[in-house]
Amino acid sequence: MNDFISAIDIGTTKICALTAAVVHDSLGNPALEIIGEGQALSRGIRRGVVVNVPEVTEAVSEAVEQCEAQADRIMTNAHVGIAGSHIATTNSRGVSAIDPQTGVTEADMQTALAAARTIALPEHQEIIHTVARSWTVDDQREILNPRGMSGYRLEVDAHVITGSSTAVTNLVQCIRTHDINVDGLVLEPLGSSRAVLRKDERRTGVALVDMGGGTTDIAVFLDDGLCHTEILDVGGHHLSNDIAVALHAPFETAEDLKLRYGSVLPERVADDEVVWAKVFGERSERSFSRRFVCQVLEARAVEILEMVGLRLEESGYLNRIPAGIVLTGGASQLNGFNDLGRQILNMPVRSGAPLPDIPIIALPRSLQSPSHATSVGLLLQALQEDAREVKKRFPVNPLTSADSERLGKTMRWFRNLLPG
Ligand SMILES: Nc1ncnc2c1ncn2[C@@H]1O[C@H](COP(=O)(O)OP(=O)(O)OP(=O)(O)O)[C@@H](O)[C@H]1O
Ligand SMILES: [Mg+2]
Repeated sequence: MNDFISAIDIGTTKICALTAAVVHDSLGNPALEIIGEGQALSRGIRRGVVVNVPEVTEAVSEAVEQCEAQADRIMTNAHVGIAGSHIATTNSRGVSAIDPQTGVTEADMQTALAAARTIALPEHQEIIHTVARSWTVDDQREILNPRGMSGYRLEVDAHVITGSSTAVTNLVQCIRTHDINVDGLVLEPLGSSRAVLRKDERRTGVALVDMGGGTTDIAVFLDDGLCHTEILDVGGHHLSNDIAVALHAPFETAEDLKLRYGSVLPERVADDEVVWAKVFGERSERSFSRRFVCQVLEARAVEILEMVGLRLEESGYLNRIPAGIVLTGGASQLNGFNDLGRQILNMPVRSGAPLPDIPIIALPRSLQSPSHATSVGLLLQALQEDAREVKKRFPVNPLTSADSERLGKTMRWFRNLLPG
């Protein structure tokens, strides 16, 4: 097992780099101790996707350098989050024969997963993850880990996540420029889920909704496995932008108003309360009704929540998530979001920050917020993969077009995440 693990979350708003030492908890189980943390304002990312490689590379360098200085060690490898509306998912099955003498081996599991990956891919799309949801050995279904079981036929129920080859290549390039090997690309909501979802919720059925700056990521878990993912092109930026448009104010002013006075429940705000803001075309600040500002936020929040409900309904999972919705990501911290979520979606809604029982010893306060669910979750994902030694690397060397093609091919079989 590695001694150190790093993760980089490249969000639309912020880039967060973390390094942790792999240690053991009091029971001797592998755990992490965070030794370095770096954060930079994001640039060159739109709706979760790299649109300007030099800008992102520079911002990554700021976050990584801070992290390295605190950790007092150079980052050589990292797990990196990926999101964006180019991500598509599908469920698929694969089969492998089992030698009854040996029982199910790792190689049998890989063969079944490889078969599950043989799906028709649209042009310029490639497979990013293949997540094993459950296994069947002969007639015994819903097995979480079949290794060592005896039988004749192994079948896997897998969730296959695909993404645009260009988006993947650009993202990896922004990291490799810093001489950092990309140990794995992890779907961001899958990372967040490791940090914020409770086991009983994942088992019963729950949807994780990660509302960031540029995207809202949905991940549905049932029977402890990921079964559906969607990435919506809308997030906290849209809430701020709506205020900017409504007040004719610069985006930064609108963002500040949102953070200081925002709520998605305007009826809870006194109707005579005013806020002051500098707007375009006027020299001094102007006053606005705080309730009006909150009404603007409410309208967009309702739209986002309705969109989440609609997507869940279309996917067929709306009625299969008794544990309801766990809202995480920076934008979920807006006042009233949980209550509005309950009203709109008519199901339990709770807010999700990294849980106290995750295997991270003394999680720093700065990382205990919903804004850091993804970066903390990426570390947890890395720890799990490290323990299982299924890691596949993207070594550092200059990206040529032949490299890009090879990268694409490697990506096709590079991620096999086992449930649990
Ligand atoms: N306390 C808060 N109240 C309301 N909104 C907040 C708060 N803190 C952060 N936000 C909003 O959260 C958004 C950023 O969230 P987050 O840090 O999760 O995004 P990101 O990971 O950079 O973006 P993405 O995941 O969409 O690429 C911004 O729109 C910001 O305005
Ligand atoms: Mg994010």
